[in-house]
Amino acid sequence: MARPSSASLVVVGSLNVDFIAGVSLLPKPGDTVVAHQLSKRFGGKGGNQALSAARHGAQVMMLGCLGDDPDGRDYRNHLRREGVNCSALNTVRSVTGCAHITVDAKGENQIVVIPGANGTLTGPSIKMQRARIAVAGLLLVQLEIPMESAVEAIKIANESKVPVILNASPVNPDFPWNEVRLDAVIVNENEAREIFGLTPGAAAQHLDSWKERLTAKRIRHLVITRGAHPTLLISKNGVIEVPAHPVQPVDTVGAGDTFAGVFATQMAEGTELPEVIRWANAAAALATLKHGAQEGIPYRGDVQSALTEMKSSSRTRA
Ligand code: RIB
Repeated sequence: MARPSSASLVVVGSLNVDFIAGVSLLPKPGDTVVAHQLSKRFGGKGGNQALSAARHGAQVMMLGCLGDDPDGRDYRNHLRREGVNCSALNTVRSVTGCAHITVDAKGENQIVVIPGANGTLTGPSIKMQRARIAVAGLLLVQLEIPMESAVEAIKIANESKVPVILNASPVNPDFPWNEVRLDAVIVNENEAREIFGLTPGAAAQHLDSWKERLTAKRIRHLVITRGAHPTLLISKNGVIEVPAHPVQPVDTVGAGDTFAGVFATQMAEGTELPEVIRWANAAAALATLKHGAQEGIPYRGDVQSALTEMKSSSRTRA
């Protein structure tokens, strides 16, 4: 059967095992709260984004580090089963990275990441993968790995004219924006405020300031996800708002990663950016309907059906 996508991506990023505690209310500093549930699932921003792109039909090669422990072996097998190319994924003498996640009754979360093997991904080890990055259709990177490895991967892609998407999460205040070129940066509202020092909600009124920041940081397109509010696409051409896909979320962990994986796949296919965001918004919304970062990541057909349904219900309302 033909692949539903022509996209071929390299994802450089983290792979974690998530320990997820379900609570009624998130703890405040100094609080102890009792969970009603604990589950263990595959996660990590890199792994989640690779899986999202693979389920959207892209050919995906994952670069990163797993530990030489049972979690690492299970994670590799899981990615292989999902069709992600793991031939250049390192196994290192370490424990696999993990994340402690607390999710409340409204689906809000708090996450603490323990890097483990992810922390051993170095610039030189990425340099050894130059040939793989140089032939990619697109490079997708996040910042949950040592910054030097993220920057090295981006520099190789820049030299090879491979488009780059950076999901600048978690924010690293030392990221050397002016040393690299980025075709698209994806952030949420808090990250946008922290990185650009501006309020996303008022982007249209302060367009010149946003444009200045994008030029200074060598970013072509900035995408700001805002939960139930419209996603913003900011570039030298102005601001475009793309409505979020309406759902009642159960668990928002991994929604941003689902967005990034679908965004990268659609962008690599050459889809126009507002349409790319419509696909990514719908996929991210569907991802929130199940618990766990990867459990709810939809397949391309499901996203297509959700978009078709949305179109026909808005036609009925009109
Ligand atoms: O973005 C969600 C992810 O953040 C989780 O899967 C967790 O592992 C942390 O990396």
